[in-house]
Amino acid sequence: MLKIENLHASIEEKEILKGLNIEVKPGEVHAIMGPNGAGKSTLSSVIAGREEYEVTEGSIEFNGEEIGEMEADERAHKGIFMSFQYPVEIPGISVTNFIKTAINETRKAQGLEDMPASDMLKKIKEKAELLEIDRKFLSRSLNEGFSGGEKKRNEIFQMAMLEPKLAILDETDSGLDIDALKIVANGVNKLKSKDNAVIVITHYQRLLDYIVPDFVHVLYDGKIVKSGTKELALELEAKGYDWIKQEVTA
Ligand SMILES: Nc1ncnc2c1ncn2[C@@H]1O[C@H](COP(=O)(O)OP(=O)(O)OP(=O)(O)O)[C@@H](O)[C@H]1O
Ligand SMILES: [Mg+2]
Repeated sequence: MLKIENLHASIEEKEILKGLNIEVKPGEVHAIMGPNGAGKSTLSSVIAGREEYEVTEGSIEFNGEEIGEMEADERAHKGIFMSFQYPVEIPGISVTNFIKTAINETRKAQGLEDMPASDMLKKIKEKAELLEIDRKFLSRSLNEGFSGGEKKRNEIFQMAMLEPKLAILDETDSGLDIDALKIVANGVNKLKSKDNAVIVITHYQRLLDYIVPDFVHVLYDGKIVKSGTKELALELEAKGYDWIKQEVTA
């Protein structure tokens, strides 16, 4: 599904990603961990196509197609979802109206008509129930006065509605409490299927007790320097990143 080879990317002339490789297949959950400033958020932004970043070398293939030069919108329409994609507060636009628009824009890009209102309502109801989101929440203005946990809930709801092929959840900066952690984990687990894939970026080994990843990668100084299974996360927790640093420089 996603195949990244020798990816180099810079921001303001400063190279952040320095030859990164990763492959994600349908049905897989990958966790990316690594010290502050390693390039984790940069990687997610580069995959999603944020313009500030310049890809200087390497390739990003999504379902066999090179997407490195595509606009962010186009990538989203192809089924790439990134959390914090819409962190802005939009007064007067409800959670529901926002997602309706997003879905219909994607359909338009695929040459489809708007989703009939009754289907849309049915889908909203179904997903809200699945994620235990109450109706009042759906009519609130997007992100306006949302708590950290509510922002997470909204993100997971957007993800559930859009049904992306690849979801990238960057949790690093958000200071999640245990409830928000569970919201994210539940959402990911409930939406997991053999056809979609998830990349979770996290500092919290604890999150991985709830979302069991198939692979754990360590991103260090712009590269994936170590990959393993869930146990790698435990090892990192116990040993810290100095251990990785020693291995990399040895
Ligand atoms: N817009 C920017 N302008 C200048 N430097 C940037 C910008 N965005 C990122 N960087 C730099 O790129 C490096 C990697 O940042 P990035 O946010 O990808 O790290 P991270 O692994 O996500 O860290 P954290 O765990 O703290 O979230 C850092 O040194 C950061 O200062
Ligand atoms: Mg980050």
